[in-house]
Amino acid sequence: MWLIECKNLFQEGQAAVLCSLAVAYFIFYYFSGTLFFDIIHFLLHKCARSRIRLLRQISKVHSVHHWYFDRHLHYNEKYRILNALTNLPLELSCQLVGSWLSERALSWILQRDQREFATTILHLTLIIEFIRVVVVIYLGGRDTSHISFHSVPKDRDWILVGPEYHSLHHMYPDQFMSSLFRLFDWTLGTSSTLKNKRITMTGVNGAFGAALKKELKSDGVESIKALRYGVDFFDDDSVSAECIKTLRDTDILILAHGLRYGDVMKANYETSRRLVELFAQHRKPLESRRPQELPEVWYVGSEIEIHPSWGSKSLGAYSASKRRFLPFAKSLYDSDSVVYRHIVLAAFSSRMGPAIVSADWAARWTMWWIRRGLKYVPVTYTGFAYLNFFKFLFKIKAEVNGLRFSGDGMKVEGSKDV
Ligand SMILES: NC(=O)c1ccc[n+]([C@@H]2O[C@H](COP(=O)([O-])OP(=O)(O)OC[C@H]3O[C@@H](n4cnc5c(N)ncnc54)[C@H](OP(=O)(O)O)[C@@H]3O)[C@@H](O)[C@H]2O)c1
Ligand SMILES: [Zn+2]
Ligand SMILES: [Zn+2]
Repeated sequence: MWLIECKNLFQEGQAAVLCSLAVAYFIFYYFSGTLFFDIIHFLLHKCARSRIRLLRQISKVHSVHHWYFDRHLHYNEKYRILNALTNLPLELSCQLVGSWLSERALSWILQRDQREFATTILHLTLIIEFIRVVVVIYLGGRDTSHISFHSVPKDRDWILVGPEYHSLHHMYPDQFMSSLFRLFDWTLGTSSTLKNKRITMTGVNGAFGAALKKELKSDGVESIKALRYGVDFFDDDSVSAECIKTLRDTDILILAHGLRYGDVMKANYETSRRLVELFAQHRKPLESRRPQELPEVWYVGSEIEIHPSWGSKSLGAYSASKRRFLPFAKSLYDSDSVVYRHIVLAAFSSRMGPAIVSADWAARWTMWWIRRGLKYVPVTYTGFAYLNFFKFLFKIKAEVNGLRFSGDGMKVEGSKDV
């Protein structure tokens, strides 16, 4: 019957409507199938650490997948067959059940004459899911999501799961759970990890820096070192040997210092820039860590990057210093050799002045977004930071001679030698 209806629709020139509907149903079913797998996947990882032996045994249907493609992103051939006999059929059955459940739910809201078409697209989806897993089994489990990287490249996607993202799940099995769309990880806040990271921060004695440090400590970081203004670094020319040593052993550099009055250009732009250049120049990744991950830089920006200075001279200078950093920030954001997070904060209470929210609030929201994988981090109650995202993405031009971070030392164009 639906075939006749389809024919009629085609004759009436509504082919585009029908095709769009078919694509929408397919995406919905396929997405539901992978989401169902993500939930089971998450529960199996929980079971793996359960005190109940039976649950630990059950979790092995998925653990074999991690034994087959391990934390170092190496294939262990002795688990290939086991992976094909347990984990891949599990993945397939979860997808089939999830897609079928979504069709059942959809049929409640569809009219009787629409259901037949929806069911046909479900059958098509189930066939595609089946064929995909059969092909993966045929390939010995070596699909495009499992690549033995020596160094995990920058992940440019933010909705779909690619090999860079899935590699991180194998390196940190309790994080990066999603298999196709990242919705599950966004919900749980498992789209990033700070585990084993050596963090170096400026502004640790400031309101935001101190609050952020508290948040970081609860995320399993390996160490947090402070670079203090007036002790480790002074301005863009004067940096202590200890500071260089610290930067060498750093995975994530967080620039949380700042000045509201006085020589703001020096503190907010020149010093920040110089510290990033020195980080690129001296950073040495831990040789024992395989595979390598990219270094990260987090810079604490402000909503002043988009809103006016309301006629205030000092705010104008502060604004200029924060805006001056943006082309450099954009080149880091675009760079393949570093992960850059641009944190844009609305006003909070600190030595800089009073506000309706605290630094603890700002730090909590910063980490809430970062756990969801954001590179541009809007922390706002005014909405300016959301607007600024479009400015940052489409209007700010990256510096042409950007920095290049590399494992063996620096490649910095146009920077001063220390
Ligand atoms: N407060 C706000 O409403 C607000 C709003 C948006 C964005 N922000 C940004 O958030 C960041 C932190 O602000 P905050 O309010 O937490 O500041 P804060 O409490 O005034 O602390 C700033 C810290 O910066 C360091 N510092 C002081 N003078 C410096 C200089 N001349 N050069 C380099 N570093 C210097 C000091 O850290 P050490 O003593 O540890 O060296 C100081 O504790 C800044 O980048 C600021 O622009 C603030
Ligand atoms: Zn995998
Ligand atoms: Zn897993």
